Amino acid sequence: MNFEFTDEQKLVRDMAKDFAQKELKPIASTIDKEHKIPDEILKKLSDLGFFGVYMPQEYGGAGLDYISYVLVVEEISKICASTGVLLSVHNSLVCGGIHMFGSEEQKKKFLPELTSGKKIGSFMLTEPEAGSDAASISTTCEDKGDYFLVNGNKIFATNGAFRGIGLLFTTHDKSLRHKGVNTCVLDLSSEGIELLRNEEKMGLRGSYTSAFALNDVKIPKENLLLGQGKGFKIAMDLLDSGRISIAAQALGIAEGAFELALEYSKERKQFGKPISAFQAIQFKLADMAMRIESAKLLTYRAAWLKNEHKNYLIESAMAKTVASETANFVAKEALQIFGGYGYITEYEIERYYRDAKITEIYEGTNEVQRIVIAKNLLK
Ligand code: CAA
Repeated sequence: MNFEFTDEQKLVRDMAKDFAQKELKPIASTIDKEHKIPDEILKKLSDLGFFGVYMPQEYGGAGLDYISYVLVVEEISKICASTGVLLSVHNSLVCGGIHMFGSEEQKKKFLPELTSGKKIGSFMLTEPEAGSDAASISTTCEDKGDYFLVNGNKIFATNGAFRGIGLLFTTHDKSLRHKGVNTCVLDLSSEGIELLRNEEKMGLRGSYTSAFALNDVKIPKENLLLGQGKGFKIAMDLLDSGRISIAAQALGIAEGAFELALEYSKERKQFGKPISAFQAIQFKLADMAMRIESAKLLTYRAAWLKNEHKNYLIESAMAKTVASETANFVAKEALQIFGGYGYITEYEIERYYRDAKITEIYEGTNEVQRIVIAKNLLK
């Protein structure tokens, strides 16, 4: 058993850490307040190769391994979870989807504009009436000969407002449930796509969560991944791997909150000494550190399994569940250590508290994760 990262993985982690500290830290609060990641940051993410971290170089990617990718998401999310989710959805769900399920022609056509960051990827599965029950989607996809005609509504499309490339899930026959689902690559600037709104959210306020109406949208037939009726399995497989990067994001949020609280506990004096001298605070710090370490081990192990092309279905759901529950526990305890100041926006810790919550919800609620784990244990 080897718990060491390779030199290359350490180098990438340090690069991401350096970028997060120098470029994101000074503006993370502004990103949250203004609900926007500045274009200069997107440009720098592109220069660093973070829009195609584990995509092969032949498609414009950085050609790194999945563990390096997880370290990038973790380091970025320690400082700015909104930027973390932008990268996570783009890399794992959209680039990952086209890379895993696209034909050579589709990979050559779509990946370079994604890996360069010229187009940002959005995952378009959820609908107003189809959340956890993903097989009940009702956006229709009619075969019109050389194109599909698509009609319906999509919500919770992370990165949607960039109008880049969507991975769109539709049905050609709703009565077939999961056997009727199709996955298409959608150019989000196509005619008939109406951006209804970007949701006002509790956290991750720098990230777009968009709702779209799709009215008679024409999608070329060659944009279909795998074949008709294969889309549900694509969604499930992608979510299985995407959950590893949500675990990394949650881990980053937990570590970021912990570091703020640890420093504050050494500086803040009450009753004549730093509050870190009190066992009430020490116990909190110890509990936070223990949970972070557990989440870290599960997350890195799930990433390692994926890297080694081994089965990671249960492990990714476990990592996502434990890491997201850790992020919420740690952010809550960290805020408590800040006392009244924790409730004041100037102190940043409240942003971590708000950002942590969604990690227990998206890419499958933690209740869904427990179903996935239990179903596969009982098989
Ligand atoms: N991995 C791989 N395959 C899976 C799977 C998994 N985790 N779960 C189910 N499957 C397969 C089954 O093996 C089965 O295949 P066969 O037909 O070959 O037997 C098929 O899918 C249907 O399985 P079920 O009957 O068990 O499916 P179900 O309809 O009961 O649903 C579910 C199971 C786990 C609840 C699934 O619907 C699910 O994961 N829901 C959550 C969806 C989700 O995560 N949505 C979030 C979307 S993205 C987002 O959050 C926004 C963003 O941009 C970040």
